[in-house]
Formats: sequence, C-alpha cells, structure tokens
Amino acid sequence: MFLKVSLYISLVIFLVGLIYKVSTWFRYKIGIGAEEISTSTRFFSALKGILSTLFSVKIFTFMKVLILDVLLQFRILREDFLRWVMHIFIYGGFMLLLLMHALDQYITVAIWKDYYSTVNPFMFLRNLFGVLVIVGVLIAIYRRFILKVPRLFSNAMDIYAILIVAVIMLSGFFLEASKMVAYSDYKRMVDEYSGLSDPEELKSLEAYWVKEFGTVSPNLKAPFDEKILAKGKELHESSCAGCHVRPQWAFTSYGVAKIIRPIGVSIDKAHLPVLLWYIHLLACFLGLAYLPFSKMFHIFASSVSLLANGVIGKEKLAPANRATLQAMELDACTHCGTCSLRCSVIMAFEEISNRNIFPSEKIASIKWLASGKTLSPQTFRLIQEGVYLCSNCYRCTVVCPAGINLQDLWFNIRETLLQKGYPEFLLLSPLSFYRGLMKEETVLKDYEKPLIQAREAILAQCDLMKRKDKVLPLAPTNRTLQSGLNLSAQAKTFSVCFGCQTCTTVCPVVGNYENPQEALGLLPHQIMHAAGLGLRDLAFGSNMLWDCLTCYQCQEQCPQGVHVTDVLYELKNLAVKQVKEKTL
Ligand code: HEC
Ligand code: SF4
Ligand code: SF4
Ligand code: SF4
Ligand code: SF4
Repeated sequence: MFLKVSLYISLVIFLVGLIYKVSTWFRYKIGIGAEEISTSTRFFSALKGILSTLFSVKIFTFMKVLILDVLLQFRILREDFLRWVMHIFIYGGFMLLLLMHALDQYITVAIWKDYYSTVNPFMFLRNLFGVLVIVGVLIAIYRRFILKVPRLFSNAMDIYAILIVAVIMLSGFFLEASKMVAYSDYKRMVDEYSGLSDPEELKSLEAYWVKEFGTVSPNLKAPFDEKILAKGKELHESSCAGCHVRPQWAFTSYGVAKIIRPIGVSIDKAHLPVLLWYIHLLACFLGLAYLPFSKMFHIFASSVSLLANGVIGKEKLAPANRATLQAMELDACTHCGTCSLRCSVIMAFEEISNRNIFPSEKIASIKWLASGKTLSPQTFRLIQEGVYLCSNCYRCTVVCPAGINLQDLWFNIRETLLQKGYPEFLLLSPLSFYRGLMKEETVLKDYEKPLIQAREAILAQCDLMKRKDKVLPLAPTNRTLQSGLNLSAQAKTFSVCFGCQTCTTVCPVVGNYENPQEALGLLPHQIMHAAGLGLRDLAFGSNMLWDCLTCYQCQEQCPQGVHVTDVLYELKNLAVKQVKEKTL
C-alpha cells in the first residue's frame, strides 16, 4: 500500500515535472530575439517544424541521427572510447532493465506468456544488464575522481546522478542475494507451491534447496544424506523446477549470496530482504520523481537536441524556433566537459580565474540567467566576461555529444548581456571580430552602442581626455601621468622610435579616413611618442588604439624595429585593466 502510494506520487511528480520542464523550452527567453515572441507562437512554430520534418525527405536524416547519434551514440565514440563504453553500458543496461525488469508486468509478460523472473533468459539477463550498469558507473567514478580527466568539473548534480544509479543497482543485487539465502522466502514458496505436509518430504526438499540453491536454513546443515537429496531433487522437480533455474545463472547475486551466507539466518531474522526491497523501490521512485529536475533529464533533452540540430542543417532557423531550441539545449547539456577540453581559449583561465571561461560552465551560468533568477552585478559581469572570452572557433559545437549549437548560443547570450548595459571591454579586442562578421545577424539596430559604451568607460578614467580643450600642457602638471608604463620588453621598443611616420603611412586604418586625425585622435607614430613621454592616458583615449586591426603592417615596416603593434596591443590591455581595477 505504502509502496503503491509512493509509486503514484512519484509518477505524478515525474509527469508534472516533465510537462513543467518542457514548458520552459517555450517560455525561457534567451537572446533579445526571443523577447517579443510569445509562448504560443513558439509552441505552434515548433509543432509546424516537427510536422514538416516528419513528412519530408528529412525523415531519412532524422532516422539516421536517431540510430547513430541517439541510440548508438557515435558522437561520444568519436571523442573517446572509454567514455562511450561507460555511457552505452549505463544507458543501455538501464533501459533494458527498465523494459524487461521494472516494467515486466506490462512488457515482458505481454511478449512471453510464461514469464517468471526466476527463469532464463530473464534471470541471467537481469544480472548481465545490472553488471553493465555497475561497470559503467565504476568507469564514471574512475574518470571523474581517479583519472581526473582535465577540465572535467564535478558538481552536486553529477554526483547525485552517479549515486542514484549506483544505489538502485546495488540494492537490487543485494535484494536478490538476500532473498536467495532468506529462509522465510523459501518457506513462503513451499507453503504456496509444494502442497507438502509430510515432515520427511519437507525435510528432503529443504535439504536439496540448502545444498543446491544456497538457502540458509536454521534447522538443517550440510552434509546431507545422498538419499535425502535424491528425494529432495524429485520433489523439487515436481513442484519448483518449472519456475526456478539454477541460481548460478544470477551470477552476480549468487556471488553476493555466497558471501553473505554465513550470516544468512540473521539476515532473515532482521527482515533484510524487506528492507532492501523498500530501499530498491524507493530509490527507483526517487530517481523517477526527480528525473525532470536532475541531470538525468538529458535523456530526453539531449535526444531532442541531437534530432533537432541534426535535421535543421544549414538553413536559417525561424526566430521562434531558435528561441525554443536554445532553451531546450540548456537542458540537453550533460556537463560532460568535452567542449571545455577542446576549447581554444581555455588558456586564459590560467590568468583570469573565472570559471565561466569554460564552455561547460558557461552553460550552467546561462541556465541561471534563463530561469530569471536575480544575479548580483558581480556574477553578471563574470558571466559576461566568460561568454566573451571566446574566439568563436566552433570547436565546442563540433564536439558536443548532445549536438548543442554552442556557437549560436554564445552569440545570442553575448548580445543579451550587452543589452544589460555593463560595458564589455573585450568588445574592443580581436575577440569581437566575430560580432563584426555577424553584424547583419544582430537583431539590434544599435550595433554600435556597446562599443561606444566600452570606450566611454575607458575615457571616463583618463584624466587628460576629460579636459574639454584637449590641449596638452607643455610640462605635465599631473606627475602621475608620467608614471612609467609597465610593458613587456618587446613593447618597450617604442623608446627607439625616431618619428619617421612609416607606421602611420602604411596603416590601412589610417588610410581609410580622409581626415584620420579627426577620426582616430592620435596616429600610430604619435602613440609611440605619447608612450615615450609617459602620457599613457593620452594614448588610452585615442581611437586609433581601439581601431587598430592588429594587422602588423606597421611593425613589419618600421625601420627602427619598433614593435608598433605590440605596443598598441599592450597599451590597450593596460587601459582595460586600469578601468577594471577602478570600477569593478
Ligand atoms: C509458479 C512459479 C513458481 C513456482 C512453482 C515456485 N516458485 Fe519460487 N519463486 C517464483 C518467483 C517468480 C520468485 C521471485 C519473486 C518472489 O520472490 O516472489 C520466486 C522466489 C523464490 C525464492 C526466493 C529467492 C529468489 O530467487 O527470489 C525461493 C527461495 C523460492 N522461490 C523457492 C521455491 C521453492 C522451494 C519452490 C517449490 C516448492 C518454488 N519456489 C516454486 C516462482 C515460483
Ligand atoms: S567557440 Fe568559443 S567556447 Fe567554443 S571552443 Fe571555441 S573558443 Fe571555446
Ligand atoms: S555543452 Fe555539450 S560538450 Fe559541453 S558539457 Fe554540455 S553536453 Fe558536454
Ligand atoms: S597593426 Fe594596427 S596600427 Fe599597425 S598598421 Fe595594422 S591597423 Fe595600423
Ligand atoms: S615606423 Fe617605427 S620609427 Fe617610424 S614612426 Fe613608426 S614606430 Fe617610429
């Protein structure tokens, strides 16, 4: 009764959770493009997309992705064999157990009319599948905690996922083993199926079961008389053998039963089989009820993500579907760390200890963002910096086993965060190159706005540039202006500049303007001068510094060997550092 109620409660929580989670795919708004699209538009747009896929030639792509990527998980195999073995063992073993064992009353019985959990192949297969899952879990523990795969973080959810599967499996094996030795289980069966009442016959059967099936009897002990055993065998064959194969077929549980046999009587007295039965079932119910809210939800979300991204192909996605897809992709992430392993800017983490630099961790932060939780400005900035520290190399998207289009997600999130109004200085770096390429794609009319914002934030910190007249005092009145520039050896080469202007002459940015001075402020050779004079604020305030393409032409042409581009680059980083130190 208690178990039935628990099952129904878990089922209800599972279903409500499932509906709730799927509804977030249509409700969470990621990206400014999603702001104006209503939930119902998104829902019907997705429905239309699904139907038009199923009734077109794309159905073949769909089937291919379903078999290769979803069922056989080739994307994981391509990455790492051990991981593939781990995943296919856990997932395959678990699914087969679910269908054959947990749902036996509905599925197995319907297919095999004379199904009993204690005959073959079911008894053997149950053990085999269970062992697969346990081996998978052991590999997972080995990878995470012993092998310490680089850049693979383990959070509470990862540990929960491993634990719940392990508890279900181990309690299952211990349950089967404890029933094998428990005398009361034996007794119940005999009462039910043997119809024996003669004490001699009962004794023979019991002796046979103690010897051959490992039952631990409080009354009888081996060795037994051959005659008694022969009689027992006979009785066994007439009453029990139809439903019972040799226990060795349940090879794992039998092994466990052998170990616990010495304490078999106490196990039965303490009602351990009942306790284990409760643990096993309640763990299953907990896993079921919590599934939609846990990492395990990826079973659904990753499959949908793989299928959706598999059939979408290259053509442009309707904005409504893009919004839905991205919300769903957040659930599809399994926190497997493959993206972080391959990411090309991860080295930045050595210097900037912001976890959001790792794509796998960015996803976790973006989940918070999407769910509408209020985040502190500090957290916000960390996420913003994290999503911007990305060279858009596409590697994460290519390797993600859940098929998530991470590239597109980053782009969209970056634009959303920019709208929040925090200046993002990385926009002034080559890392913003991709944004420039995607200018047409940005939904914003104000592409320029965040750029201007970042520059203004820097200017606000430059004392000299705040002067309205912008006239340089001949002798710097503010001594701090002269405080030396802390540059690398190459960048310090500005000191040998002799002012030939070659750098400025060859610069394509300068050449782009009719009146470069007006547009750019200082020109490259003038910045070298400013650096020479220690007027760093002057240099920081010059548009040239921020418009430089880092094409290295100036550096190559300089007759004095000044590392012009390196100087510009380092000045730029110094400016950003100064502003960050003062304002963050
Ligand atoms: C109609 C089929 C059927 C017959 C006949 C039958 N059993 Fe069972 N027996 C089962 C099933 C199914 C289970 C497992 C489920 C359970 O414990 O109720 C089981 C479980 C047991 C267990 C607990 C160990 C375990 O593997 O789960 C013992 C001991 C046992 N039977 C002994 C006997 C004996 C002794 C006889 C003959 C007198 C017998 N059974 C006859 C179906 C049968
Ligand atoms: S696209 Fe960005 S996050 Fe992805 S691997 Fe490349 S640098 Fe890393
Ligand atoms: S985004 Fe993909 S590759 Fe990265 S952790 Fe999530 S599932 Fe793994
Ligand atoms: S590196 Fe910058 S300053 Fe030098 S030539 Fe290229 S754009 Fe001009
Ligand atoms: S080319 Fe070299 S020496 Fe000439 S102005 Fe530029 S940095 Fe100075």
